[in-house]
Amino acid sequence: MQISLWLSITAVLVAAACSSGGGEERAAPEPPPADRDIHSFARPWEARVTHVTLDLTADFTAKTLAGTATLSVERAPSATEIVLDTRDLTIESATAQDGRALQFTLGTADPILGRPLTVELPRGVNAITIGYRTSPAAAALQWLAPSQTAGKAHPYLYSQGQAILTRTWIPTQDSPGIRQTYAARVTVPRELRAVMSAEQLTPDGSTAPGGRSFEFRMTQAIPPYLIAIAAGDLAFRQIGARTGVYAEPAVVEAAAAEFADLENMVTAAEALLGPYLWGRYDVLVLPPSFPFGGMENPRLTFATPTVVAGDRSLVSLLAHELAHSWSGNLVTNATWSDFWLNEGFTTYVENRIMEAVYGKPRADVFRVLGWRDLMVEIDRLGGMQSKDTILHVDLKGRDPDDGATSVPYEKGAALLALIEQTVGREKFDGYLRGYFERHAFKPITTTAFLADIRAHLLTDKAVEAKVRLEDWIYRPAIPDNAVVPQAAQLKGAGEQAQAFARGASASSLRTKDWSTQQWQYFLAELPPTLPADRLASLDQHFGLSERRNSEVLFDWLRITIRNHYEPAMPALERFLLSQGRRKFVRPLFEDLMKTDWGKAEALRIYAAARPSYHSVTVTTLDAIVK
Ligand code: BES
Ligand code: ZN
Repeated sequence: MQISLWLSITAVLVAAACSSGGGEERAAPEPPPADRDIHSFARPWEARVTHVTLDLTADFTAKTLAGTATLSVERAPSATEIVLDTRDLTIESATAQDGRALQFTLGTADPILGRPLTVELPRGVNAITIGYRTSPAAAALQWLAPSQTAGKAHPYLYSQGQAILTRTWIPTQDSPGIRQTYAARVTVPRELRAVMSAEQLTPDGSTAPGGRSFEFRMTQAIPPYLIAIAAGDLAFRQIGARTGVYAEPAVVEAAAAEFADLENMVTAAEALLGPYLWGRYDVLVLPPSFPFGGMENPRLTFATPTVVAGDRSLVSLLAHELAHSWSGNLVTNATWSDFWLNEGFTTYVENRIMEAVYGKPRADVFRVLGWRDLMVEIDRLGGMQSKDTILHVDLKGRDPDDGATSVPYEKGAALLALIEQTVGREKFDGYLRGYFERHAFKPITTTAFLADIRAHLLTDKAVEAKVRLEDWIYRPAIPDNAVVPQAAQLKGAGEQAQAFARGASASSLRTKDWSTQQWQYFLAELPPTLPADRLASLDQHFGLSERRNSEVLFDWLRITIRNHYEPAMPALERFLLSQGRRKFVRPLFEDLMKTDWGKAEALRIYAAARPSYHSVTVTTLDAIVK
């Protein structure tokens, strides 16, 4: 079974490699309007990029990456030009493979999409080299001063490409349906080490004029949002045979201890989904300004340092990013309206990995917390009738980031859990493996997913009718056939919250040996309003304002803002100044802005924190804290 699966995946790989040998006169077919990527200027059916070779130098004083991107192009015979995506790039030159200069024009700037770069494509040209430099304000890149790192001695650079930010540092066709292989040489100051979402050809680098050069290659075609780079004072610790962690020296031991189960997670994921096809699975722990919990860059997940809690309580985040090695990185949302296919599958699989590694009772806990997140999010989006509760979300004229709510994650996962329950786990698992095999290294649209599941799993109309696929995918709200998760392990925490609500003292609560998630559930079950003396007793007994665990601290701080509980405000300010993970800072600033007293505080704290946040977080917060 395992072997035949491996053989068929190898066949897919070989087929993919043969069809992407750049240069021959061929291009993708023009998609129907509904499946077109409205967030890219590219016209891949005329001419498409198949490979990118980067030669870039990082200048930490100027805050620029400068050099060349050489693009291999597959073209229709009739094509006369190729259109690339750019945003805030300075384009210096364009040349063909034979060195002749090519004419190029930058179109007018769209605030979300950036500017199309159109390069002429004379007959016979199948590789173009763009000379360019990035802007110090490039939205994908964060240039950190030594003071913003753990070691305080060296600067740091990292990128965040998803959803449409790769175009701010690489002039290419920045659409998730346009897969590209890549190679890179990156030169950084000699005391730094560079890593990328690729195979490292020169782990120790080599001396180059003005610094140290590192070489990489990614021979499996990936969507451009997964091209990623980081450079800093990085150390490495091995975890398992193909797993390890990169982080600053001050952080790397703690990170390696925290991620001790990483290799087990990869093994569990393979048992569920088929072979892990990317070679190594390493994690890079970033400085605290990293705007996400994690980012599934192939071979090298990027992660927030807030996941290093000291007790391995937040490692479901690793299960999530690892799951993307199948859902997202192998089978990729074709457009950002199909984002739920990335995140819904991943959230479902994340939970299955957690169940395989830690058992069903613990996995159930995460499912309950996920469901609760979904309910809270739907409220925030304006209720069940909000169009943003539709899985295949309408992003016309919007930043794809607007679609990154809990809906694609949790409603998507709830749909898959419902299908699993309807057809039975064994049958569903067989479908999952087949889905990843059939679509490996290819984009998938929502329409194609529907056709696939109807052909391979929900072949019986009566069974499909039980699921109500179309309601789930194209209509707002959560259909009433959803399976609402339950978790025995949360019963006690819920009861203690009720006891406290009825007036029990904090000291009488039975909280011994509670996990992070039991604390989260307890806090979520507390009454919405509580008087200051009750909050004070909770804080005194359980040291909530002093918690190091970011999830528990975050939930507690939201309660304190809601109740204007002054004594927790220094802890709130510290938290907002010490990390820039958008999932944490956005709700806290939003909560503050909703109150009379909190608005001035929010403005004051944001003014101090803003310079240290990544552009992704800044863009979100600028629209809120004003
Ligand atoms: N791919 C996402 C992060 C992302 C989404 C970046 C949309 C840009 C646009 C990543 O896999 C993710 O979902 N991260 C979560 C953590 C996860 C455990 C839910 C996060 O950052 O909170
Ligand atoms: Zn994800």
